[in-house]
Amino acid sequence: MWLSVALICAALLFLIFRYVFSSSGPNPFDTDTREPLKEMVHNRKEKNKVLKQGFLASKVPENLDAIIIGSGIGGLGLGVLLAKVGKKVLVLEQHDRAGGCCHTFKEKGFEFDVGIHYIGDLLDHKPFRCMLDQMTNGQLQWEPLDNPFDHVVLGPPENRRRYPIYSGRTRFPEELKKCFPGEEKAIDEYLKLVKKVGRGIWLLAMLKLCPVPLAKFLVWSGLAERLSFFFKMAPRSLTEVVNELTENKDLRAVFTYIFGTYGNMPKDASFSMHSLLVTHYLNGAWYPKGGATEIAYHMIPIIEKAGGAVLVRAPVNRILFNDAKEAIGVSVMKGQEEVKVLAPMVISNAGIFNTYQKLLPKELQAMPAIQKQLSMMKNGEGGLSVFLGLNGTKEELGLKADNYWIFSENNFDELVVNYMNTKREESARKVPLLFVASPSAKDPTWEQRSPGKSTLSLVSFANYKWFEEWKDEKVSNRGAAYKELKQAFIDSVLEVVLDVFPKITSDKIEFIDAGTPITNTHYIGAPKGEIYGADHGIARFSPELNATVRPQTPLKNLYLTGQDVFLCGFAGALAGALTCGSVILNRNLHLDAIALAKRMKFMKEKLKAE
Ligand SMILES: Cc1cc2nc3c(=O)[nH]c(=O)nc-3n(C[C@H](O)[C@H](O)[C@H](O)COP(=O)(O)OP(=O)(O)OC[C@H]3O[C@@H](n4cnc5c(N)ncnc54)[C@H](O)[C@@H]3O)c2cc1C
Ligand SMILES: *[C@@H]1O[C@H](CO)[C@@H](O)[C@H](O)[C@H]1NC(C)=O
Ligand SMILES: *[C@@H]1O[C@H](CO)[C@@H](O)[C@H](O)[C@H]1NC(C)=O
Repeated sequence: MWLSVALICAALLFLIFRYVFSSSGPNPFDTDTREPLKEMVHNRKEKNKVLKQGFLASKVPENLDAIIIGSGIGGLGLGVLLAKVGKKVLVLEQHDRAGGCCHTFKEKGFEFDVGIHYIGDLLDHKPFRCMLDQMTNGQLQWEPLDNPFDHVVLGPPENRRRYPIYSGRTRFPEELKKCFPGEEKAIDEYLKLVKKVGRGIWLLAMLKLCPVPLAKFLVWSGLAERLSFFFKMAPRSLTEVVNELTENKDLRAVFTYIFGTYGNMPKDASFSMHSLLVTHYLNGAWYPKGGATEIAYHMIPIIEKAGGAVLVRAPVNRILFNDAKEAIGVSVMKGQEEVKVLAPMVISNAGIFNTYQKLLPKELQAMPAIQKQLSMMKNGEGGLSVFLGLNGTKEELGLKADNYWIFSENNFDELVVNYMNTKREESARKVPLLFVASPSAKDPTWEQRSPGKSTLSLVSFANYKWFEEWKDEKVSNRGAAYKELKQAFIDSVLEVVLDVFPKITSDKIEFIDAGTPITNTHYIGAPKGEIYGADHGIARFSPELNATVRPQTPLKNLYLTGQDVFLCGFAGALAGALTCGSVILNRNLHLDAIALAKRMKFMKEKLKAE
């Protein structure tokens, strides 16, 4: 009996090592490809030559190795990984510019970001930073936010309590303790749990990379939960864990405020997902110098250098299959015409719902394996964005390189339920949760690009159903009723902003507009206006789902990348690209990135010693 158990264990370990550490394909992080820093390009026309290359059949390179649907960080990131090992990749984007959530747009002279406000974990020589440096040939620079990087504001206008959130493994708890005397134990315990969960994330990547039978065994045997604290805590809700730590309602709120970065209210949020976000920002927060367009701008040339292309205004309307149910290419709508593009491999960055529900032929969509995956995931919450262009410098307007999370009460569960389930006119009158940040104040190049001006981005959630009736109307012309509803949301969030930022007055506002869930559908292809792709509630974190939803689809030569295969956020979507790249290149790119970081640190220390 013991012998057989030992044998099974040995076989299991062998399999784990073989599949997790196997490295038969070429390594995109083999050599250091950073180049000396070139002068930054701010000229919009010059940048558009890279970001806005319109689709034409004649621009499609011959003998493609792969087609990627969607140019978000999940698509472009994967494109770069493949290009770095010499693969010829075509990235197709439905919008008129590349970048997905990393794209920007300009209105009345103000440049606005869509989905990049702050990114964590970018300390020098950390694997994530090294990897991004390599993926942009050392040209993308990161500007740290101020410390405190976040401010949590709780309560109604007449009684707003402000809590600064600092980064730093010791500073974070120290500063919290100053705000909450007597709660030292709760704060230490919270951080201890959060860190322990963060360390268990390795198993998630492994479950997505090891062979399905092994993944299933780990799940079925309960080993996944035993081996990783991440999976142990994943079924527990944030509310449940935090309520055990403290009775202080404001502290509970401060422990949970960052749920806004993945979108599930604390009672639906997995403590594990939450912990990942807390640890993500524990060493600081950064913003791309020059704005979010810099990301795609420095990735596209790497794809082109290998013979590939990134083409926009290229909505893919279906994926093409042969009789053996193998993906062989895609069809792109060029006006009313379908243009077919063939390649031995198709990878979708368009999200699991678009890919399975819109791009597959009906009979493949009906396959039980596809239906099973769809049944395990659900659409995430819709997003509401308000963009303000202001007359004045950051000094004049009192804007800093930080973020504000403003809530009208400290009971977030109640607040979200009431807001999302109320009649739209009523919810519009009082938006009880609001993220406010000034992208212009975070970017050291802004003053040079737009002297005397500033921008403000406000983000909240919104129920897709509130706006659904207008979804088929033209984006810039949805009629008076839609405009009126939008205006009601704008007015109520503006009231909050003018109150919390006293230096901003209405006469400073030169431009203001809002994006609703149906705006997201149009510009970033989010089918239900999702802000963070598929829902990140507790169900998303079952080891079973993890082992099932992975870069490989049930259809040969069709893969998934981006936020739906791993997690949302810039880092999560990029981890999706890394996981997908690992499968395609048949080696563990997560480990390659870690090895690269070690090598680079070693080289730097050697240089210093010489
Ligand atoms: C308002 C907002 C604020 C955010 N703030 C932050 C933040 O501060 N920090 C952070 O880390 N994350 C933030 N995020 C989340 C982060 O931006 C996303 O999770 C991440 O960028 C998603 O990357 P992705 O590549 O998976 O998807 P996306 O960037 O959504 O890319 C998918 C692309 O596919 C395209 N597409 C879809 N269907 C088709 C088709 N049929 N044919 C061709 N193309 C198609 C879409 O147009 C889109 O460009 C924010 C998101 C939003 C919306
Ligand atoms: C911006 O403000 C300055 C003074 O602060 C004023 O002179 C200028 O006219 C304003 N510009 C606009 C477009 O409102
Ligand atoms: C699998 O679960 C982990 C944590 O349990 C989570 O991070 C990941 O997003 C899940 N996978 C998918 C496809 O959502």
